[in-house]
Amino acid sequence: MSNNEERFDFAAWTKLLPPSEIRILLEYKVKYNFGGGLPGALPIDTLTDILIEIGEENKQDYKDGKLGKALSLWNYGPTGGQEFCLRVLADRLRRVDDINLDKETGWKDVILTAGSQQAIYAILDTIIDPGDVILTPSPAYLGFLAPAFKLGAEIVTIPTDLDGMLPEYVEKAIDKCVKKFGKKPSILYVVPDSDNPKGTTLPFKRRKALFDITEEHDILLIEDQAYKEIQFGEELIKPIKSLDKDNSRVAYLRTTSKEAAVLRMGYSVLPESLKYQVLKDKGYLDLCSPTILQKVMAIYYEKYIDKVLPDCLKTYKKRSEAMLKGIKETFPAGEYTKPTGGFFVWYESEKQFNSKSFLMDKCIPNDIMFVPGAAFYPIKGWSFDDTSDGLIESQAKTNTMRIGYSYNKADIIYDGITRLGKLLTEELS
Ligand SMILES: Cc1ncc(COP(=O)(O)O)c(C=O)c1O
Repeated sequence: MSNNEERFDFAAWTKLLPPSEIRILLEYKVKYNFGGGLPGALPIDTLTDILIEIGEENKQDYKDGKLGKALSLWNYGPTGGQEFCLRVLADRLRRVDDINLDKETGWKDVILTAGSQQAIYAILDTIIDPGDVILTPSPAYLGFLAPAFKLGAEIVTIPTDLDGMLPEYVEKAIDKCVKKFGKKPSILYVVPDSDNPKGTTLPFKRRKALFDITEEHDILLIEDQAYKEIQFGEELIKPIKSLDKDNSRVAYLRTTSKEAAVLRMGYSVLPESLKYQVLKDKGYLDLCSPTILQKVMAIYYEKYIDKVLPDCLKTYKKRSEAMLKGIKETFPAGEYTKPTGGFFVWYESEKQFNSKSFLMDKCIPNDIMFVPGAAFYPIKGWSFDDTSDGLIESQAKTNTMRIGYSYNKADIIYDGITRLGKLLTEELS
């Protein structure tokens, strides 16, 4: 049956919200794929060893008649996660990231979700009524924009530069939102480290400014640190959450997806009342997270991550350098980010063009894929405009591209990017 046949009386949003453009592009099989953000350097040896360790212990428990213990690995569990796993995560968040979690009881503040994506969805689901206002960077993570749109939020995007979101515009936009919508924003969303899609990293001064603004205006700040562990430099900038000493302002999201594997496991620290509502939602969404994966996580974060992650980081850094070299050598005039971590470079050409038609007409036939930047602007929303100092209808920048380096080997990346640069130069000449 075709998608167009109205076989059922579908909900209104199904007609308004298209499927994710990235998911559609992933269907194309090309040699030089800079489209998705698939992790391409995972600690496979370690993960396999962990699985063997877990399996052997489970078999032994079963043989020894410890049926309860053996069964628990394959059973339902608490909605927010098992204590053994939450303790390991809480301990690491406290030691490494300076998150204020009590040494003994802090694990109770951490919850698991099906990827950080489920945390994003459940937070929006529990906070947003149609017409509520949300602030996001421009451009922003599609996986945040789409559910916000689906739930009927008024999305207001804030200008960014090569260091990410500009706090002075957030302040001004709040004022404009109150005038336009009769209410202040409910949520400010930010990806401080190596943002998706732009690859920017917010300096600490901006993190502090955003925290202060949300404190002053009583706005929930969602800090999505999906790329927190994928950082190339030695000097790491503290998360905004480290400023939230009493766990009352910041919904802090992390994930295993980039730093361990795509286990569909996210972990977050949320203010108490938000945690309660999110867990209520999760309870109806998926009941609980798989115990066996929590075992994998607990062992990985307790014993292995610091040993194996540096090698993965070297690989990603090398790939990012190959991409930047290719861009520098072959791309036409424009601005692009030079990421210090994460998976993406964002390019914006000086000359106007439509990167989507360029992709479909010139790149895919030449075995090259990237994501046209327009995918990362709201389908419908507002943007703070610094020239008119007001809110204008949001418009996608079509002369932009998100180019991912996480999956391919460095030589393939360089080869593909220089081909892309040549095609782009032809297109814009
Ligand atoms: C910024 C950002 N947040 C959240 C996610 C969701 O990740 P996951 O659900 O795998 O934890 C992604 C995935 O690409 C992302 O880039």
